[in-house]
Amino acid sequence: MRVLVVYESMYGNTHTVAERIGDGLAADGGITAEVVPVGDATPERVRDADLVVVGGPTHVHGISTSFSRKQAVTDETLAKEAEKGHDLEVDPDAEGPGLRDWFSEMGAPRPTFAAAFDTRFDGPGALTGRASRGIARKLRHHGFHVVADPESFLVDQETHLVDGEAERAERWGHDLLAAVAGRAEATRREPPGEDPLEPLDATVESGGRYDPR
Ligand SMILES: Cc1cc2nc3c(=O)[nH]c(=O)nc-3n(C[C@H](O)[C@H](O)[C@H](O)COP(=O)(O)O)c2cc1C
Repeated sequence: MRVLVVYESMYGNTHTVAERIGDGLAADGGITAEVVPVGDATPERVRDADLVVVGGPTHVHGISTSFSRKQAVTDETLAKEAEKGHDLEVDPDAEGPGLRDWFSEMGAPRPTFAAAFDTRFDGPGALTGRASRGIARKLRHHGFHVVADPESFLVDQETHLVDGEAERAERWGHDLLAAVAGRAEATRREPPGEDPLEPLDATVESGGRYDPR
């Protein structure tokens, strides 16, 4: 199975999470997991993948916009964060395209399995918002079969990954393999057109019972 992990990242946290998800997916061998920034996630790479895992930072309660991405790396923002003692490092690919552009230029990819994740501040999701929910929605809109609930990985107020989150990302990546196998099996059993995971995702998207830990 070929896996493509696509990430958007301004300060490196989502990048780190994406790498760890890739490690988890490849842990048992036999899986090629390519981990790439949005700008390198070409239509050819997406077409060749059997599972596409997509993640980005939560900005203003959802997926980043071109405005929020610019705002994240202005000299003023970085200076303010430095004054507070926060040592933010801009990710090498932060200046590339964001997920919104990527989705809007995607066209109609080959329908394949997919999953969504984000990074966000540590706190109740109802207050922070979660980019992963919007990412999962866009994946479905483009015809992907989303195999797992959208997942968040948490950063602290200094925008560093909370202890244990990188390891949790690796486990989540590993568990995606079982989710893909389960979904493939369910698809074989269900009549065409029925989607056994939809009611579950709908509950999660309503904010009903989501627990990021
Ligand atoms: C412009 C901007 C808006 C943000 N808005 C939110 C938000 O609404 N909710 C939240 O939990 N985190 C918010 N954050 C924090 C980001 O989620 C955090 O910086 C990100 O997860 C770090 O990932 P990265 O290092 O890959 O960029 C915001 C950050 C920026 C720069």
